[in-house]
Amino acid sequence: MKNQNSTSDDKTRSRHRRITEPSPWIRRFAPLIPENGAVLDLAAGGGRHSRHLQGLGHPMTVIDRDVSGLIGLDDVEIIEADLESEPAPFTVGGVLHGRTFAGVCVINYLYRPLLRDLVAALAPGGVLIYETFARGNEAFIRPRNPDHLLKSGELLELVRGRLQVVAYEHGRDEAAEIPGVKQRICAVNDLGTSERDDGEPVAHPIQPS
Ligand SMILES: C[S@@+](CC[C@H](N)C(=O)[O-])C[C@H]1O[C@@H](n2cnc3c(N)ncnc32)[C@H](O)[C@@H]1O
Repeated sequence: MKNQNSTSDDKTRSRHRRITEPSPWIRRFAPLIPENGAVLDLAAGGGRHSRHLQGLGHPMTVIDRDVSGLIGLDDVEIIEADLESEPAPFTVGGVLHGRTFAGVCVINYLYRPLLRDLVAALAPGGVLIYETFARGNEAFIRPRNPDHLLKSGELLELVRGRLQVVAYEHGRDEAAEIPGVKQRICAVNDLGTSERDDGEPVAHPIQPS
């Protein structure tokens, strides 16, 4: 018999699976990912973002512990794995060890021990597009566990000195597919590649919202 928590997890999963359109944040910033570059969709769920990114010409690697919702996604690398178990995915023996990507996309998933590895998995010029729930969300809807909710400025802190921040948001989003408190970032791995005298990285085109 299922306990209350697993029933509630099932409900949350099916609520997310019913959303088939990609997040507007992914739509908006996907054009910054280097053309035809390989993209990792971490905790991909039903694969809505992989479908979108594949449609833009990116070879996709899709990882989730439950890949049953990925039906209909052809020509993608599907990895069924628990991201929170040992060996950690990017460490020796892990399913993503040594891999780098032109894009890393994470939507509505947080496991803090992975965050630094995700930044390190960006190839030069690679783009991190991350969006998930943040503190304050517990007043509205799941997730409520603080381990699954970003702290104020947390993604900014993560990339500080490592990636160029192109866009960042944090706040209540009533219009989102699942309304709640969200934090979003788009950041590019091109610090230090500048040919300018002042070392500033190249500017990317502002993406229309
Ligand atoms: C809220 S869904 C988001 C799915 C997708 N990113 C989207 O936005 O449609 C969270 C996903 O994280 C996956 N997940 C949760 N814990 C995981 C773990 N320990 N290892 C791998 N995947 C996990 C779930 O299976 C689920 O597909």
